[in-house]
Amino acid sequence: TTPAPEELLKIAVEVAREAAETAYRMRAEGVSAVATKSTVTDVVTAADRAVERQAVAALRAARPADAVLGEEYGDADGAGLAGGSRVRWILDPIDGTVNYLYGLPHYAVSLAVEVDGEVVAGVVRNAATGDEWTAVRGGGAHRAGRRLGGSTETDLGQALVATGFGYDPARRAHQAGVVHRLIPYVRDIRRFGVASIDLCLAAEGMVDAYYEKGLNLWDHAAGGLVAVEAGLRVDGLAGTGPGPDLVIAAPPALFGPLHEHLARLDAAGGP
Ligand code: IPD
Repeated sequence: TTPAPEELLKIAVEVAREAAETAYRMRAEGVSAVATKSTVTDVVTAADRAVERQAVAALRAARPADAVLGEEYGDADGAGLAGGSRVRWILDPIDGTVNYLYGLPHYAVSLAVEVDGEVVAGVVRNAATGDEWTAVRGGGAHRAGRRLGGSTETDLGQALVATGFGYDPARRAHQAGVVHRLIPYVRDIRRFGVASIDLCLAAEGMVDAYYEKGLNLWDHAAGGLVAVEAGLRVDGLAGTGPGPDLVIAAPPALFGPLHEHLARLDAAGGP
């Protein structure tokens, strides 16, 4: 039998806390201490891999038959570690790798859990500060015991909108063009560098909305549920759910106008 989402969330929270401790400790010990090679990227990869391996081992110990999709195990087809149950875990061991690299205290472990292909629970934990957002489908989104409800802003012109940029140069150029043309229509733009936390900040109303193109499932699975459970609408361009084309998270009153602008600006093309 498949456990209730609340039970799966308990496992997720425990695994995410341990993973966050490892990420934080490795950062505090100095990234050079965890580097296997001399380059900057390798340093982060070493921490990423160590955290992912630990979390996957913990998940496999708790739930041996479940599938796991993570950055290290992911591939273009979205294949990961196969499992024989109805449950799949979706893990980003360190979301915000550039912040991590620079020691900016804003990076997260993101862990979501699906049953039969639907995300039913998720946790995002800022590994540097301990801030932790959780959600259970149908059970609301919470931080520190407080239920989250998103922003009450209804005017896009007064909305603070978070976004992010991918690593691919052509995509970045396209994303910069969209920001350039969107900014006259919003209060301002924020780029914090952690997609999963951006979604949680939108769930808290600390930003009014968030959008980004080109995200991987592990970037938005947990934070997306937190946003949905806070009452936000989370969807892509086509209305078939958030995906690599676009993830938009906004309160219902802002979703329509933001979607309209992004559909128009994205139509200019770009990867
Ligand atoms: C990245 C961050 C960033 C977002 C990028 C992601 P990573 O994830 O979430 O905020 O703009 O699209 O790839 O590489 O740090 O795990």
